[in-house]
Amino acid sequence: MSPPATLAQLEDALARVEDPELHRPLMQLGMLKNLRVEGAVARMRVVLTTPACPMKDRIEREIAAAVVGRVPGIESVELEWDADVSRTRGVAGRAEVPGVRNVVAVSAGKGGVGKTTVAVNLAFALQRTGARVGLLDADIYGPNVPIMLGLTERPGSAGERIRPLDRSGLQVMSIGTIVDPDRPVIWRGPMLVNALRQFLFDVAWDELDYLVCDLPPGTGDVQLTLAQSIPLSGGVIVTTPQDVSLADVTKGIAMFRQLRVPVLGVIENMSGFRCPHCGEVTDVFGRDGGRELALRLELPFLGAIPLDPRIRLGGGAGEPLVLARPDGEEAQVFHAIASQLAAQVSQANFRAAAGPVMPSGPRLPVA
Ligand SMILES: Nc1ncnc2c1ncn2[C@@H]1O[C@H](COP(=O)(O)OP(=O)(O)OP(=O)(O)O)[C@@H](O)[C@H]1O
Ligand SMILES: [Mg+2]
Repeated sequence: MSPPATLAQLEDALARVEDPELHRPLMQLGMLKNLRVEGAVARMRVVLTTPACPMKDRIEREIAAAVVGRVPGIESVELEWDADVSRTRGVAGRAEVPGVRNVVAVSAGKGGVGKTTVAVNLAFALQRTGARVGLLDADIYGPNVPIMLGLTERPGSAGERIRPLDRSGLQVMSIGTIVDPDRPVIWRGPMLVNALRQFLFDVAWDELDYLVCDLPPGTGDVQLTLAQSIPLSGGVIVTTPQDVSLADVTKGIAMFRQLRVPVLGVIENMSGFRCPHCGEVTDVFGRDGGRELALRLELPFLGAIPLDPRIRLGGGAGEPLVLARPDGEEAQVFHAIASQLAAQVSQANFRAAAGPVMPSGPRLPVA
């Protein structure tokens, strides 16, 4: 019988296993903790950079392949999963948002493509992975988040700060919960900038891993203020598959790049119509435009969401789909996109920590 494996042998075998996305050894990244050998079993805790990691299965397979049959006497591996969500690196001249590790901006070149629907459902999908999530409605002129979440109460105070509203564990802030919903917000640029800065810095966000920020369409004051005030983890672009929408998207991407905000990826919404009765998908606005755009601009494609009446009904009734039916077939696409998004945030943070922040992909002319 061979002598029992030692910890040194286990560490040696694990030294070659890399994180599939960061391409660095897990050991070097400090992601393997509490290594021990108990008889024929190697045990360890794997600390991911997000609980929404889409690579869990692959990491598990690769650890097992490196250890079982390679380290003498080890017949199986038992992993315990944990996550310590990485934080966006500070940027000179931009203040971090207190209590928030990552701010992700959901934007689009034009209105009505489903930014708010996507932001709200992604926030709940991220939350379901175990992350602590907030939602900031930065669409000051047309705040739709209160309607989509069925929020009617006003936020209270927490000492000197505003306490965000709680919607099923999600911390939410929206101008729509403060001003009279029937009166339009008519503000000049400086007032808008002040309001947005208050939402970022004067709200008592409570230890958030991700703050999802729903932006108004286009590339105006809100986008500029947000990108210039805080170190954003990155921006996500929502588009429908048609060309007209794609042309606007390119401008949004150019703006992020010029402001040195990482572009985390493209989401195609209303991508084909899914019949709620038979499940068949029909192309209404064309298909794959977002995927092709992402490819052309060398950006990650995070996923395609079909046009589905159940998605619209959920938003209208204040019960977003992912919250109302998290295990339903139609919610799965949001879970998959949330995982991809969280992985992109981790990668952007890793790249930023490793060197100067560089805009990814080819340069684009700013229109
Ligand atoms: N995948 C989808 N399937 C069905 N309906 C959808 C889908 N995505 C969005 N909608 C519906 O389309 C309408 C517009 O969506 P939403 O308000 O999210 O867009 P937006 O980009 O935030 O708009 P705005 O520019 O006005 O802020 C809403 O009625 C919403 O319920
Ligand atoms: Mg909106």
